Amino acid sequence: YPGAAEYVPSTDNLATLAAAADACHGCDLYRDATQTVFGEGAPHASTVLIGEQPGNEEDLDGHPFVGPAGRLLDRALDDIGVDRKTLYLTNAVKHFRFEQRGKRRIHQQPRRTEIVACAPWLTRELDLIAPELVICLGAIATQSVLGPKAKVTELRGRTVELEHFRVGATVHPSSVLRATDRTQAYAEFVDDLTHLFEPA
Ligand code: URA
Ligand code: SF4
Repeated sequence: YPGAAEYVPSTDNLATLAAAADACHGCDLYRDATQTVFGEGAPHASTVLIGEQPGNEEDLDGHPFVGPAGRLLDRALDDIGVDRKTLYLTNAVKHFRFEQRGKRRIHQQPRRTEIVACAPWLTRELDLIAPELVICLGAIATQSVLGPKAKVTELRGRTVELEHFRVGATVHPSSVLRATDRTQAYAEFVDDLTHLFEPA
């Protein structure tokens, strides 16, 4: 598979970009997934949030962050007084990677090759939106933006300057849902987001 680059049109229009992603065969994840789940939100958002990949519900629904992780994220944004509609939400990888077990589709982390294959979409989204702040939710988003060695644990809650924007990271909301002490994990997630959204 060639990666997404040859499917990415040279357009300044985010809707055109999103539509083109429907036909992407840049890696083999398109085969088993239901559909491409592209980023959505304010086209000139000052903050972009990046997740990992669509989950089961997103894959069926076609929109990012509509499942359990999305609901937790909504609650956290609500708690810190950020309106989701002012943001742009997307994912490092645009198709759902899963393993079928009986009737259940079990989430699988995307491989490095798939993260790299899909990155041209994310790069173009960031070019067109031109945000001031990019927040990576979890390891996959962090590695997609900052390279394979970047660690959420070293970056949590603070930002570093890249050429075109500041970038910061926190955990993925689904890790909060899986945590042994959910209350504690949620409080830390909200704390990270609070710091990340503070003006530079
Ligand atoms: N998890 C993600 O990383 N992205 C989504 O869109 C949904 C769940
Ligand atoms: Fe294309 Fe990304 Fe889907 Fe792979 S995961 S087919 S690169 S949109």
